[in-house]
Amino acid sequence: FHVDWDIVTAEKAGFDHFMLKEIYEQPKAYRDTMGARIDAAASKVVLPEIGMTPEQIRSIRQVHIVACGTAYHAGLVGKSVIEHLARIPVETDVASEYRYRSPIITPETLVIVVSQSGETADTLAALREAKRCGARVVAITNVVGSSVAREADDVIVTWAGPEIAVASTKAYTSQLIGFYLFGLYLAQTLGTAEATYIEEVLRGLRELPEKVERILEQSEAIKEVAEQISTHHSLFFIGRGLDYAVALEGSLKLKEISYIHSEAYAAGELKHGTLALIEEGIPVIALATQDALFEKTVSNIKEVKARGAQVFGIHMEGDTELAKAVDEVFAIPQTHPLLAPALTVVPLQLLSYYASLALGHDVDKPRNLAKSVTVE
Ligand code: G6P
Repeated sequence: FHVDWDIVTAEKAGFDHFMLKEIYEQPKAYRDTMGARIDAAASKVVLPEIGMTPEQIRSIRQVHIVACGTAYHAGLVGKSVIEHLARIPVETDVASEYRYRSPIITPETLVIVVSQSGETADTLAALREAKRCGARVVAITNVVGSSVAREADDVIVTWAGPEIAVASTKAYTSQLIGFYLFGLYLAQTLGTAEATYIEEVLRGLRELPEKVERILEQSEAIKEVAEQISTHHSLFFIGRGLDYAVALEGSLKLKEISYIHSEAYAAGELKHGTLALIEEGIPVIALATQDALFEKTVSNIKEVKARGAQVFGIHMEGDTELAKAVDEVFAIPQTHPLLAPALTVVPLQLLSYYASLALGHDVDKPRNLAKSVTVE
């Protein structure tokens, strides 16, 4: 009897790739990142790692979120979350742009840097620039003791555990959890959200891990769609609001590991030019999880359908309308609309994984990319 194994296979815990393993570790990463930070009995978020006094929090006039790559996409969700919950204006920037555009940073600016590794050169330089201008810096990072963690004033650690695959999955979703917790924490302190509303979002947060598990049980359905799209050279992701932020991440994931060209578009912006690229048979992944924007998104879906697109729609369970407008649908479990990104991205991660697999690429080590970029 002979068993072939090596240390790498063992570390993959029976999964074919680190990326798949990390996708499946998300329920645990969510639970660990929320951990003791949610006091369910008191219906509040507890963040002892934030050293700001209520007075200091009340003095924040603007928030700048700065990051690179996937972490930047988490920051786009973070912008909506903080603006919605804390009613403070937020700008999200790519670190390599932020540091050179002479941003207006004052002591009343709170800068949030997001970095899985905590070592990305541009993100670190942005952090230093923010501090030089007198801003307080909060870091959301996955690595305790990283440069970003050491230099920031306050650190929210995402407890995703080590992420090996170059394409980020569980680190991104844990960053989302970090933003939900911090957004709620600001809202509690500032009184910008009703206690019952905070309670509702907290309940939704605690239910996320089990809902991710339910999505993972349906990975076969996603695999079929991935195999279909893997034969195409180009495709689109569309969505509005938070769905647009997730569309950007879904598109990046697909490009990174399957090398299929794709573009993410704010659904309402398509008609301002890019609709010309929609031709017979082109796949369009349409995200429609946001109730308030649903009708508008469906009308954009009709625009691409009318030009022959094959539309794969993602919506929330309970909706019966989207199926009438698209070719295929996938439902994420019902959740609070603010929390939808933490679920919607999961089928998109699986989509890129299975597309890459179908094309025979090296899923965990895509060409030309590095896990951590410490050069400028
Ligand atoms: C690299 C990785 C990306 C990552 C980005 C930012 O480009 O390939 O997956 O999103 O760096 O990394 P960070 O460690 O700062 O989150």
